[in-house]
Amino acid sequence: LAGDPELNINHPYYDVARHGIIQLAGEDNSGRKVITFSCCRMPPSYQLNHTRLLEYLKYTLDQYVENDYTVVYFHYGLKSLNKPSLKWLQTAYKEFDRKYKKNLKALYVVHPTNFIKILWNIFKPLISHKFGKKITYLNYLADLGQHLKYDQLNIPQEVIRHDENLWRKQKGKLPPVVKVPPPRPPLPTQQFGVSLQYIKDKNKGELIPPVMKETVSYLKSKGLQVEGLFRRSASIQTIKDVQKLFNQGKLSPHHCQELPEPLLTFDCYDHILEITSVESCLRVTRCKEIIQGLPEHNYAVLKYLICFLHMVSQESIYNRMTASSLACVFGLNLIWPQKGTTSLNALVPVNLFTELLIDFYTNIFNSRTVPGEILP
Ligand SMILES: *[C@@H]1O[C@H](CO)[C@@H](O)[C@H](O)[C@H]1NC(C)=O
Repeated sequence: LAGDPELNINHPYYDVARHGIIQLAGEDNSGRKVITFSCCRMPPSYQLNHTRLLEYLKYTLDQYVENDYTVVYFHYGLKSLNKPSLKWLQTAYKEFDRKYKKNLKALYVVHPTNFIKILWNIFKPLISHKFGKKITYLNYLADLGQHLKYDQLNIPQEVIRHDENLWRKQKGKLPPVVKVPPPRPPLPTQQFGVSLQYIKDKNKGELIPPVMKETVSYLKSKGLQVEGLFRRSASIQTIKDVQKLFNQGKLSPHHCQELPEPLLTFDCYDHILEITSVESCLRVTRCKEIIQGLPEHNYAVLKYLICFLHMVSQESIYNRMTASSLACVFGLNLIWPQKGTTSLNALVPVNLFTELLIDFYTNIFNSRTVPGEILP
């Protein structure tokens, strides 16, 4: 399997997913989720049902349409043998309704060829000016570096070798090596990228990180009825700026994804992934069992957060943030695997689990008390 150990044979698109053509791969510089499409992983056309591939692509994007996202398209390896028909491409573009296009913020075409440029000319009249502006051609892998950390992408070996050959041929040398900066020790007031215990020790033993409390009260003061409260990724930059200030001891926001271990802990990861195979009527009970096993501190913080999200979802007629859309935004911030990035196949269970926690907050969190509990 092309880089996805979690792919289950019962996956509804197993026949297509197993090739690893479409993968989820970390975030770009603006904090948007990145999806890669690798042509070299497409088997010969007679071995791949392209209609299914299109359905799988939409199924994948449906996990994302609530959020902005970026696509990296590795063109190398598209040959006459595995090339989908022009008719298919046309159908694909037509079936991609507005919702998918609107939240696609950037499309990077890596190693474009004349074939792509010809295609582009054919489709130009069909493609809106606005969509055209989202496309960037990149001649070398290293050019991706301006937009995202490309060492986190699962780039096919063939593509890496092709890039090296291009460098050798066109520049007479090898491409630069990707450098990852070493981690820095935590600053004394730092609240992101450090463990919950560290935060607790620095905050006079209080369980809920001040950063979270202050963000929640800020959002509450703005009014929970504001439309699209968490949705725009423009706010991601703001969150990052605020995070920086906060770490220097100046201010305060949220975001659990920067913790070294997810709030739901690595131990729960596999249990959460199995939620989709639990019978529907037993799922809420199963969620309750899973979170019963959390350490007290994690439980307290999770309860605080979910209680707040539940309150937000109660106002969904005004703010349009239903439990399901909140789950899309927050799910991946609560749990991720110990190794590698979250695979696409984990998205459905992770989002479902989060949605259940939000929807059934009262039922799921009613049986365990936290000493000195604070709720929003
Ligand atoms: C390809 O998949 C579509 C949709 O799932 C299906 O209707 C069609 O029969 C499949 N074609 C082949 C040749 O299996």
